[in-house]
Amino acid sequence: MSQEVKYGFISDAHDDPYTAVRATSLFTGLGIDKLILNGDIDLAALSSILKQTAQSGLETFVQPGSHEQISQYTTILDKFIQKYDNFHDTTVKQKFEMEGHHLIFAPGSDSVCGGEFMLGDMLPTARYFDMIIDSESGAKRAVVPMRNCVKYLKVLNQGAKSDGIFQYFNMQDLYRLVTEPKKTILISHIPRKFNMPNAVDRAEFGVASESFNLGKSFVPKGSIFKLKNARNLVAQGVPIEIKNENVGSECLAQFIHERGITKAVNGHIHEASHRAHDVRCNNVPENQFTNELFWNSGCMDKGHCGILTVRGEEVSYQNIDLNDYK
Ligand SMILES: [Fe+2]
Repeated sequence: MSQEVKYGFISDAHDDPYTAVRATSLFTGLGIDKLILNGDIDLAALSSILKQTAQSGLETFVQPGSHEQISQYTTILDKFIQKYDNFHDTTVKQKFEMEGHHLIFAPGSDSVCGGEFMLGDMLPTARYFDMIIDSESGAKRAVVPMRNCVKYLKVLNQGAKSDGIFQYFNMQDLYRLVTEPKKTILISHIPRKFNMPNAVDRAEFGVASESFNLGKSFVPKGSIFKLKNARNLVAQGVPIEIKNENVGSECLAQFIHERGITKAVNGHIHEASHRAHDVRCNNVPENQFTNELFWNSGCMDKGHCGILTVRGEEVSYQNIDLNDYK
């Protein structure tokens, strides 16, 4: 019989990043075997957590979500990886074969919010220059792979402006990593797409139904707002529509379906914090082993995180609320 392995999951610490540091201390007390930092963790807090786990030797997997920027993320992580051997950067390696199970990581997000790690199926996996070209018909966006310096200079000489950089991960690259679907656990910051109201990808948010000015900033039509901000702005008469929709990734859903994966852990959707269900969106109870689980391990902004226990091809989850441990 396979040995049990307990993974502590932390993600989405925006409001008070140090809750993530508290969660790490709590996990240590609860006896986790490995730690997974699954995106949207403030970089100062990330640094504190890595210091903590460097001292304890706890094996730690780090994955960017929708907010991480390449230079800060890699600078912090490389500093620790060069010195200690208990850290893994999932932007460098996406598959880890453990005894009785495999972890596959899908780094980045399909809707970045200041972040520079993107996940999808539109571009080959690479780092890119993001560029804006002004033309008679208006401004157009262009992307140039970083390795193609000649093209970058050519586009610059044509009057384009550089508008930052980003790392793109193409989902197609993950297909070949799935060698034993029943043993595989997919870990992504964003969820796959579902179509039920209780699903891990169901979000409530605001969308600008028209362009408008907010203070000195121009807000284009289609901009996304967190629910709380959206409600405040709607009360002030700003043209924002409140939506309640399944917003998961279609290409992640296709990947999971085509490769026969039945276990996945995500964060990102704050409203779906601590939800858990099977592929048909039937509730899966806590602390019960199953071979089919789609789980939002918890939004740190709500004080939520979680532990996944893996026993061969089966897993069970435990939702943890930091407010219960004050
Ligand atoms: Fe996110």
